[in-house]
Amino acid sequence: MKTVRIGLLGLGNIGTGTYKTLEMNRAQITRATGLNLEITKILEKDTTRERGITVTPEQFTQDPDEIFKDPEIDIVIELLGGIEPATTFMLEAMKNKKAVVTANKAAVAANFQKLNETAKANNVEFRFEASVGGGIPIINALTTVLQSNEFVEVLGIVNGTTNYILTQMTEFGFKYADVLKVAQEKGFAEADPTADVEGIDVANKLSILMAIMFDKHISPNDIPTKGISKITPKDIEIAEAQGCKIKLIASARKEGDKLEYSVKPTLLKASHPLASVSNEFNAVYVTGNAVGELMFYGKGAGPLPTGSAVMGDVMEIAKNIYK
Ligand code: HSE
Repeated sequence: MKTVRIGLLGLGNIGTGTYKTLEMNRAQITRATGLNLEITKILEKDTTRERGITVTPEQFTQDPDEIFKDPEIDIVIELLGGIEPATTFMLEAMKNKKAVVTANKAAVAANFQKLNETAKANNVEFRFEASVGGGIPIINALTTVLQSNEFVEVLGIVNGTTNYILTQMTEFGFKYADVLKVAQEKGFAEADPTADVEGIDVANKLSILMAIMFDKHISPNDIPTKGISKITPKDIEIAEAQGCKIKLIASARKEGDKLEYSVKPTLLKASHPLASVSNEFNAVYVTGNAVGELMFYGKGAGPLPTGSAVMGDVMEIAKNIYK
């Protein structure tokens, strides 16, 4: 059986979840691809942390070129997070004819065109399913079975950390700071959770969704964005008295040539389909002119749900290379 060698950039929360998905589901992954997938090299400084996975010291490297210049490696998974050096590394991998898979919404949103164009110019695949909605297959759905649609609108709860915080504050009256700490411990939050609570992470994901749905790349910096850090228990009480829940909503709507978009805490009637999306669950509510309304629902954060999406992309690429 053919072995497909993979280089991994970053063995943090999501890197570990991805590695674990491959370890845990090896039999299924081999059955589905007809290939033996191996993560042979890992760029990671922390080589000693106990992660609950089997990694040998020889797999670790401190030199990204050991991955980019390795002729045996076909696919690079980038899970460093942050715009740089992640973007430079992804471009470098593509220029060395490696396909690239990432979960890095900040880098994809900031450099959408450059990354896609470089992949195309080097005739390699670039996939980023895990960058929006964690385990929810929204990007694959939009770019395959839904691609005949003119999209009209997207409404999304696309940040697990803030949805977890709002849910726990609403349902149990827990304090903002305490719940944020739990979300961090569960591996939902970004390294710097400011990106979560101030809506920046959601703006990154909305930028990616709009680029795909409306063929328009809007920089996350140009998306009007408000987070949840100022939401108080009193706000939640007032919303409840009106039969509403507060959710951090990403929205974009196209009317004619006009595209309107924002990220902001929004009052939703309890009967709205997005109002019942709780904790780290995400949902993306899409309207297409042929298909009508659709809602995609699932875990939007966490090492294994995200690892599931990353591995799905890796497997598709491996099948396309060796079909
Ligand atoms: N920090 C992000 C979240 C991780 O909480 O949704 C998934 O992108």
